[in-house]
Amino acid sequence: MNRSTPRARIGVVGAGMVFDAYARGLAWYGDLPVIRIADIDVGRARAKAEQHGIPAYGTPAELYADPDVDVVVNITPPVAHWEVTRDALAAGKHVYSEKPLAATVTLARENLAQAKAAGRVLAGAPDTFLGTAGQTARAAIDGGLIGTPFAATSFVRSSKVEAKHPDPGFFFQPGGGPTLDWGPYHVAALVNLLGPVAEVVGTSTIPSPRITVTTPNRVVDEVEVSVPTTVAAILRTASGAIVSTLYSFDIWDMTLPHIEVYGTEGTLNIPDPNRHDAPVLIKRRTDTDWSELPPVIAPTRAPEAGPFRGHGVNDLVESLRGQPLRVPGEFALHVLEVLEAIEQSTFAAGVRAITSRAERPAPAALPQSVSA
Ligand SMILES: NC(=O)c1ccc[n+]([C@@H]2O[C@H](COP(=O)([O-])OP(=O)(O)OC[C@H]3O[C@@H](n4cnc5c(N)ncnc54)[C@H](O)[C@@H]3O)[C@@H](O)[C@H]2O)c1
Repeated sequence: MNRSTPRARIGVVGAGMVFDAYARGLAWYGDLPVIRIADIDVGRARAKAEQHGIPAYGTPAELYADPDVDVVVNITPPVAHWEVTRDALAAGKHVYSEKPLAATVTLARENLAQAKAAGRVLAGAPDTFLGTAGQTARAAIDGGLIGTPFAATSFVRSSKVEAKHPDPGFFFQPGGGPTLDWGPYHVAALVNLLGPVAEVVGTSTIPSPRITVTTPNRVVDEVEVSVPTTVAAILRTASGAIVSTLYSFDIWDMTLPHIEVYGTEGTLNIPDPNRHDAPVLIKRRTDTDWSELPPVIAPTRAPEAGPFRGHGVNDLVESLRGQPLRVPGEFALHVLEVLEAIEQSTFAAGVRAITSRAERPAPAALPQSVSA
């Protein structure tokens, strides 16, 4: 993609590890320039500005005060999401926040109420279900290829973050853990496919209260674990489908699928929902083997590129031009409420009802109809 007149001018708060994925993704669109970057550590903002040719950098307050910034992209750690989103909305900006929308449902609701009162758009990650795999699976279900979906499985294994991130503490603190760090990809994908979740029941454990950091360029040697790192839960969707989940940072690897959806006429095997364009497999009652579903939309990123983010920001910008917003804050809030319920599950507490309701996001406009 390459367009020249900016559709929106982007200011990014948080100059950390995921910034390069946003820089790559927004550059792919060509007309969503990052015009300013900010961080509480201004040295980090300057380094990213120099690396990516961003014209301005500085403190978050300077970014909020910049009248040229239309949309703030909040890619700070989860515990800072609420505050950064609050301050950006107060400055009159539209906001796209990384996942989770805030560290707690209560704080996320505050952000949403503020956005509504201010007449500003608050949208949130994850946006990966907008990619080819998520849309192909969605089209298969909507087209009846597996009949009526009645069950699913969703498994998260260790992201091995302690071997990759120089300062991985926040992945093991409130707002992180396998549930709130990786769970958003899974639950967003499941809500996209099966609709909103109505009830959750489960239980959890913390097998290792301290984690050794092995990244060569680490800035800490060990991190404390203050959230459950292995959680098993059963979800029931409003449509009546049941989903079995096992979300763990302690399971170093597994052979279980990332996500499978089971329908009355067949099964869909869905690739890692943290990614965009891997194949979706199908096996119907009448099939002798698994086959790849043809993608219903073109790849949503260049194949040779590294980690990639930005489709959700583009979706926000398009919604300002009258298109449906497929990653609204309400959707991210619902995902967060489900994840919080999963993480806090105990057998003693029993079944927890989910009070928020998100619509299934509109599917991508398809070049052709998909049907059984
Ligand atoms: N690292 C990844 O691969 C990845 C992938 C997808 C999503 N995410 C999400 O992106 C977000 C950021 O992750 P990361 O890995 O880049 O984190 P990081 O720790 O590498 O970087 C976060 C940056 O935010 C800055 N910061 C902290 N509090 C701030 C505040 N109040 N105001 C301004 N700046 C502040 C820090 O100084 C740091 O530079 C998280 O929500 C994470 O879940 C990360």
